[in-house]
Amino acid sequence: MKIRVCLKDMVPYSPGKLKPGAIKLASNENPLGMSPMAADALKQSIGSVSLYPDGGCVKLKNALSKKHNLASANICVGNGSDEVLVLIAGAYIEPGDNAVTSQTTFSEYTFATKLFGGTMKYAPMADGCFQLDAIASLIDTKTKLVFLCNPNNPTGTSFSNDELRAFMKKVPKDTLIVLDEAYREYVDRSDFPDSISLLNEYDNVIILRTFSKIYGLAGLRVGYGIARPEIITDMEKTRAPFNVNSLAQAAACAALDDTDFVNKSRAVNREGKTYLYASFDKLGLKYYKTDANFILVYINQDCVAAFEKMMALGVTIRPLRSFGLNDAIRVTIGTPEQNEFFVRCLEKVLGK
Ligand SMILES: Cc1ncc(COP(=O)(O)O)c(C=O)c1O
Repeated sequence: MKIRVCLKDMVPYSPGKLKPGAIKLASNENPLGMSPMAADALKQSIGSVSLYPDGGCVKLKNALSKKHNLASANICVGNGSDEVLVLIAGAYIEPGDNAVTSQTTFSEYTFATKLFGGTMKYAPMADGCFQLDAIASLIDTKTKLVFLCNPNNPTGTSFSNDELRAFMKKVPKDTLIVLDEAYREYVDRSDFPDSISLLNEYDNVIILRTFSKIYGLAGLRVGYGIARPEIITDMEKTRAPFNVNSLAQAAACAALDDTDFVNKSRAVNREGKTYLYASFDKLGLKYYKTDANFILVYINQDCVAAFEKMMALGVTIRPLRSFGLNDAIRVTIGTPEQNEFFVRCLEKVLGK
């Protein structure tokens, strides 16, 4: 068999190493587990798994449209926002097209683009932050998509409403701006973009959100895109019929109503952030102030070796070598106990 040309240089996704029993602070999951209301909904819907799920995600789209004050036609639900990224690229990337993003950001943007024969152009990053002017200057006539991760994984930094609006003015109308807001619910800064209101002014925007982070449903795989109906229709053409399973749909609907869980998750994250900043300051380590549920910290030694040592001690984090950062790790903000255990392990690895 002859593999498609665009797949030749691609490598299959390799999941992070896990150690049974180790505390996992490697994938930005919710340390409190899942929303209890979602857990109840799961129990109640288990009997329905012999039937195909609702292929249109009608109930979930209705709940989401109510939450965001939009129409169902503005929403496309996917098997995680990972899948939504593939639906977008599948709708708009032809072989020979390109997409633009930043260095040191989420790798699935490149995966989705290359899958359909596109190439990715990377703007430089400065001090962990997206440089929106540099991104705008890379857009050319073949640029179909621009991926902006806000807050950014793995640096945790974000850009403001004013910065985004100034950027939008520079973008051609036929380039779709993908605003990935997987960590939006953790953001405290008051000048964070009101991205959904951009839909009233610009046709070329899609916003991505997920149930994997603050709602604690990463294992169920539910994410969604919000855009004008024409874009949603284009994406729906590339979607498999029953892409979101029935348990995931039921749990996501229930999780949306669980404001207590969301508020508690935010509070635990804020407290953990303060503790970890203070610990890194004490250790003299450089880190970026985060708007998400993880922190990038420079540990001044080989990150993969440190990862192995920390895993042996009972905690997994994400070494950032694949992002080109040999001396940096990304740690998910955990519960107070998890954070303290992580700091003790880090001190041991650093010989402090
Ligand atoms: C920035 C960003 N976007 C999207 C995703 C994928 O989320 P999902 O679990 O919804 O596929 C992640 C997961 O870590 C992420 O960090």
